[in-house]
Amino acid sequence: MLFRKVLTASTCALVGTLGLLAAATPAQASGSLQDHAAARGKFIGAAVDTNELSDAPYQAAVAEEFGQLTPANAMKWDATEPNPGQFTYTRGDQIVALARQNGQSVRGHTLVWHSQTPNWVQSLDATAMRTAMQNHITNVMNHYEGDLYAWDVVNEALNEDGTLRNSFWLQRLGSSYIADAFRAARAADPDVKLYINDYNTDGIGAKSDGMYSLVRSLISQGVPIDGVGFQTHLAVQYGFPTNMQQNLQRFADLGLDVAITELDVRMQLPADTTKVATQTTYYRNVTNACLAVTRCVGITVWGYSDKYSWIPSAFPGEGSAHLTDANLQRKPAYTAMHDALAGGGGTDTTPPSAPGTPTASGVTATGAGLSWSASTDTGGSGLAGYTVYREQGATDPQLGQSTTGSITLTGLTPSTRYEVYVRARDGAGNLSTPSATVAFTTQSGPAAGPCRVAYSAPSWGGGQGFTASVTITNTGTAAVNGWTLAFTLPAGQQLTPPGWGATWTQGSAGVTATNLSWNATIAPNASVGIGFNGTFTGTNTAPTAFTLNGAACTTA
Ligand code: XIL
Repeated sequence: MLFRKVLTASTCALVGTLGLLAAATPAQASGSLQDHAAARGKFIGAAVDTNELSDAPYQAAVAEEFGQLTPANAMKWDATEPNPGQFTYTRGDQIVALARQNGQSVRGHTLVWHSQTPNWVQSLDATAMRTAMQNHITNVMNHYEGDLYAWDVVNEALNEDGTLRNSFWLQRLGSSYIADAFRAARAADPDVKLYINDYNTDGIGAKSDGMYSLVRSLISQGVPIDGVGFQTHLAVQYGFPTNMQQNLQRFADLGLDVAITELDVRMQLPADTTKVATQTTYYRNVTNACLAVTRCVGITVWGYSDKYSWIPSAFPGEGSAHLTDANLQRKPAYTAMHDALAGGGGTDTTPPSAPGTPTASGVTATGAGLSWSASTDTGGSGLAGYTVYREQGATDPQLGQSTTGSITLTGLTPSTRYEVYVRARDGAGNLSTPSATVAFTTQSGPAAGPCRVAYSAPSWGGGQGFTASVTITNTGTAAVNGWTLAFTLPAGQQLTPPGWGATWTQGSAGVTATNLSWNATIAPNASVGIGFNGTFTGTNTAPTAFTLNGAACTTA
C-alpha cells in the first residue's frame, strides 16, 4: 500500500536526521511536530479543506508540521454523492494529491453519518437506504483504494448517554446498519483501516462506556473493525476528559488501534491568560495520553490555524481553538504539544515498580480472578497497564492484559495447576520486574474443546426464510490460523448464497464456511461471527453438530 511505503521511507530518513540533530541541539529546540511524533512511532495530522489550498504560507506550514491529512469536508457524502449514483471526487482527489506530494498519509472521513448527508438519502425507505449505503461505501472506497490509511466508516453513532443515536440510519435500518457498514467497507477494501469515530468519548463516562460495549459487541460478532477514533473536541470551560489515557487503553486492550482524530480546544472569546494556560495543558495532556498508549497511532488536529476554524460558526462566541493564531503564529499550546512529543524521545528508561503479589479468587474449571496492588511509575511516560504471565520455564506465555489492578482470566484448562505473575508496563514500553507468583488449580470440568459454536437462526418471511448467525469461539490455548467450519443443515433447509463473514458452500456433504482473509486468525478466547440467509420447509430447527478444521466443537 502506498502509505506504508511512504511512511517507511520517511521514517528511515527521519531517524538519520534526528541522530545528527540530537548531537547538536536539544530535542525541544528542533524538528516539526511530525518529526518528533514519528520518532515516537506516532503521526501528527491535520484536517484540511479545499478552500485552503491556495494559501501558500498555510500549505507550507501544513506540509512542514504534519505527516497526515484528513479532508475536513471533501469526502463526506454530500461532497462525494450529491445525487443518487452521481459520484464526484474532485475535492477529495485534490487532498489526496496534496498529501502524496507532501509524503503524508490520509484518513478518509467519513462514510456513514447523520450529518452532511443529502436529503435524498434520508428520505429513502429501508430497502433502498440499505442499498444506497452499500453502494456509497463500495464506490467511494473503491475510488480511494490504495490512497488512504484509514476510513471513518461510521461517525457519531452515539447519544451522550451511550445509547445509539436516533438517526435516520437507526430509524430505518435498525442497529445492524453499523455492522453492515463495516462489512461493506471490508468487502470494498481489504487493506484500509476501518474506524468508528465519535466525540465526547475521550474520557471514561457514559458515552465512552456505550462505545466500549458497542465495539465489543461488533468484535464478538466478527465485524471487521480496526480502530476507534476519539474526536477530542475539547473546551476549556468543560474540563479535561476523565482518565483519558485509561480510556484509550481499554479500547486498545480490545485489540484495536486508537487515534485522536479531530483535536481542538476552544474557549469562550475573548481569550485570556488563564484560558490560554488551560488550553495549553489540554493539548499537552492529550499528547501525553496518546504517547502513553502503545496502540494510539496518532493525533489529528481539526485545523492548524484559527484562520480556518470551524469553531466560530459551530459554537458562536467561541474560538481560538487551534495551535496557531489567524496569522499562523504559534501559541503556547503548540510548544506544549511539540515538547511533549520531543521530550520523551525514548528517554524514559525507568520501569514502573513491581506490582504486589496477586491474589487468586473465583477459580472455576476454565477461569480465575486475580487482583494485585498497583505499581508506581516515576519515569515520566506514565503507567500503561499490566500483563499476566504463566510461569512455565523458558518462555512464559501471556494469559491476559489489564489496565487496572485486577483481571478475570478465561480459557484456562480444567484440572490444571497455574503459577502466575504480573508485570507492569509504562507508556514508553518499559516492563517492571515480575511480581511474586501465586498458584491455583482449576476445577475439574469437561475437557476444553478447541471450539464452541453458538448458532441462532430466527425465521422471517412468514416462516419460509431465516437468518443464521453463527459465532465461533476458539476455546483452545493456541490461535487458529485459517479455518473451515462444517455442519449439516437439517432436511429441508437450504443456504441462500452468498452468506457473510466466510466463503459458504452447500453440497451433498453439508455446509462449509471457510474464513476470509481478515478473520482467518482466531486468537484463544476470541470469537468470529459469520452468517447466512436460508430457507426451510417444515420446522426451523438448528443443526446440532459442528466441526472446525475437522475437530468437533461444543455448542452453546
Ligand atoms: C466539520 C467541518 O470542519 C466544518 O467545515 C463543517 O461545516 C461541519 O463539519 N465532527 C466531525 C467533523 O466528525 O466532520 C466535523 O467537521 C466536526 C465535528
